[in-house]
Amino acid sequence: MHLAVIVLAAGKGTRMKSELPKVLHRACGRSLLDWALATAEPLNANETVVVVGHGAGDVVASLPEGAVAAVQEPQLGTGDAARVGFGACGRDVDTVLIILGDMPLLRPATLEAVLRTHKSEQAAVTLLTAVFQDPTGYGRVVREDGRVVGIVEERDADEGQRAISEMNVSVYAFDAAILGDALGRLRSDNDQGEYYLTDVVEILANDGRRIASVVADEADCVGVNSHAELALVSKVLRGRINEQLMQAGVAMLDPDRVYIDSGVEVGAGARILPDVYLQGDTTIEDGAEVGPSVHATDSSIARRAIVRYSVLDGATVGSGVTVGPYTYLRPGADLGVESKAGSFVEIKKSRVGPRSKVPHLSYIGDTTIGEDSNIGAATITANYDGFEKNRTEIGDRVKIGSDTILVAPVSVGDDAYTGAGSVISEDVPPGALALERSHQ
Ligand code: UD1
Ligand code: CA
Repeated sequence: MHLAVIVLAAGKGTRMKSELPKVLHRACGRSLLDWALATAEPLNANETVVVVGHGAGDVVASLPEGAVAAVQEPQLGTGDAARVGFGACGRDVDTVLIILGDMPLLRPATLEAVLRTHKSEQAAVTLLTAVFQDPTGYGRVVREDGRVVGIVEERDADEGQRAISEMNVSVYAFDAAILGDALGRLRSDNDQGEYYLTDVVEILANDGRRIASVVADEADCVGVNSHAELALVSKVLRGRINEQLMQAGVAMLDPDRVYIDSGVEVGAGARILPDVYLQGDTTIEDGAEVGPSVHATDSSIARRAIVRYSVLDGATVGSGVTVGPYTYLRPGADLGVESKAGSFVEIKKSRVGPRSKVPHLSYIGDTTIGEDSNIGAATITANYDGFEKNRTEIGDRVKIGSDTILVAPVSVGDDAYTGAGSVISEDVPPGALALERSHQ
């Protein structure tokens, strides 16, 4: 088999009421189109063609390596889109699988079943259908004596056809040559004046070709046309991600309140509490406890770390570290083994060495702190002079007194102290006590 997968993704998605092309809206950190491509990935197709149109530039820019774009302009319907996509396929292609870019819940196994049936039944086309509780708005599968004879769109259907609950999912496997011929015979004499891919099915039925079908689960066939549907599929995808993680040994107190994006890694034995958002390139190691109420993006949390009520963005949290409550770790915050960042502490572009502590009410920016140092409450590194960011260097076993302001660039040597309330603007040598304070 020489297989081409064609993804139809040129439509505008009017009901999203958004500048963003519909297929670029995201669910669990991934665009709808990305989910569709991921579903087809295990098929190892020889070619993957994405039909783009509305917002083509952005959609093309989002494509993974190996996917080819075919531009459909203007967008004259799904049949026209299939024609454009088919035109971009190589001559060797003998089987074409058409899927939609806005149906992220479909599973690889379902696509595999369609191809398997297509082959075993030696069909001209194999459709995926589903029996919907409420099929309003979808194309209905019309059968005679059990055999598929056509698909009728809701707006073109008569009352009897509207009562049919078997809907057309819009996933089809085609014999390539037969598809090419039928696409050339499509006409746009329907309610919308569009070329309907669905009409190919009737054409083939009239030609006396073999039409096979596979019935999918209703729940897997939800398409996204509105924000309500986007929220619905996001919830389902989230449930699948959490289910998989729990099976792999991750503990969750209440999985309905855990929001983990696709691609985030969570180690077995990690414990995730409610209202946790893990996004982007984030990794949680074994035995870490995250939550309640943590929002982490592009961050790593190592073994046995505890992070509560905090926001992490591009942060590295070492093993055994405690973070929170109410800590803001910004890009480049790097907390060494068993260190601590406590309440109302903001840290950016700074290394906190092993076992060092920043327990309360501090801003630490562009700073290096050595090992076993303690940063007193309300310490501020004044890193910005209005023109440039300057560095603060704090050594090992340092005690910074409460309410110290470290005016960067400045350094505090190993084993040094600063007195509470001091504004430190000159370097402090190792072992010294630096005090800057007027008499009361
Ligand atoms: C289509 C099917 C319908 C099926 C439903 C399932 C047709 C005529 N109808 O209806 O039987 O039940 O899907 O969701 O095929 N697209 C293009 N170019 C175009 C038009 C559409 O690429 O010119 C793409 C869209 O981006 C979208 C997909 O094709 O991903 C489906 O188009 P849409 O207009 O949503 O078709 P439906 O009316 O939902
Ligand atoms: Ca649709």
